[in-house]
Amino acid sequence: MLRAAGVTVTAHTEKRELDQEELITACLQHDALLSVGGGNKIDAAFLTACSHLKVVSLMSVGYDNVDVAEAKRLQIPVGHTPGVLSNATADTAFLLMLAVSRKAFYLHNTIARGEWGFFEPTRNLGVELNGKTLGVFGLGKIGMALARKCRGAYDMPLIYHNRGRNEVAERELGAEWVPFDELLQRSDVLSLHAALTRETKGLFDEQAFGKMKPSAIFINTARGAMHNEQHLLRALQEGRIWGAGLDVTNPEPMDPDSPLLQMPNVAVLPHIGSATAEARNGMAVIASQNLIAGLKGEPLPFPIRS
Ligand code: 8YV
Repeated sequence: MLRAAGVTVTAHTEKRELDQEELITACLQHDALLSVGGGNKIDAAFLTACSHLKVVSLMSVGYDNVDVAEAKRLQIPVGHTPGVLSNATADTAFLLMLAVSRKAFYLHNTIARGEWGFFEPTRNLGVELNGKTLGVFGLGKIGMALARKCRGAYDMPLIYHNRGRNEVAERELGAEWVPFDELLQRSDVLSLHAALTRETKGLFDEQAFGKMKPSAIFINTARGAMHNEQHLLRALQEGRIWGAGLDVTNPEPMDPDSPLLQMPNVAVLPHIGSATAEARNGMAVIASQNLIAGLKGEPLPFPIRS
């Protein structure tokens, strides 16, 4: 798409992030940046050094790596890729929820260790999801996609906490807006789908886990920095919550020696929320559309608004 639009493309194909100096050096020779992978820090220092850029196009929906206010001040349009990855990311949350509820990843590993074991009626027990309450923190497109799946599969009632109300969810799914503490107290499955901001960073800590049900499952497919991983580990070890499914960890990559990886009621994936052919194709198309529009000086089809 980019070449067909007459764009000369230089691709960074090494399997490592460019450090900021290298990124700035490269961008100084280009009119636009297409940032694939979310690892580039598009902060004030970068934007000031590269204020000539006509557009920064992210191949991600999240933009916590961008200083949006500074980009706006310097009049550098920034685009992202909402919508096309909602279904894939919601699938990942659903997969983790179900895997945790039946200890699936852990049991898979016990077989590989030769520990299939002898049948006992109370061995390898999980919990059922039917009719359990789904709590969504940040009920936008991805949260809605998950809520619809959970309603269809398990008839799960939906409670949510957002800054504003989600009227579509209330109408379509009978969703109930609740204060943050009530979300923690009432959720059987609590799934995070909010953006990482100053307000949400580290929000899921000891105090938050302490308010959850001992039977609750915590799911994070949003950003690892929203939970405190040491506190999560302790909450699981002490039985203050029942299980956790993480597609995002804190830090990333997760330490391979993390005790979380050995726990029966934990399932971890390496940030694959949008990793389907359909979603990644959709993201690539939108990222290219944003970039081409920016180079032409036209409004971006999917801009980040501050
Ligand atoms: C990406 C994501 O895989 O879109 C996002 O915000 O977290 C994922 O879809 C990641 O950002 C790499 O681009």
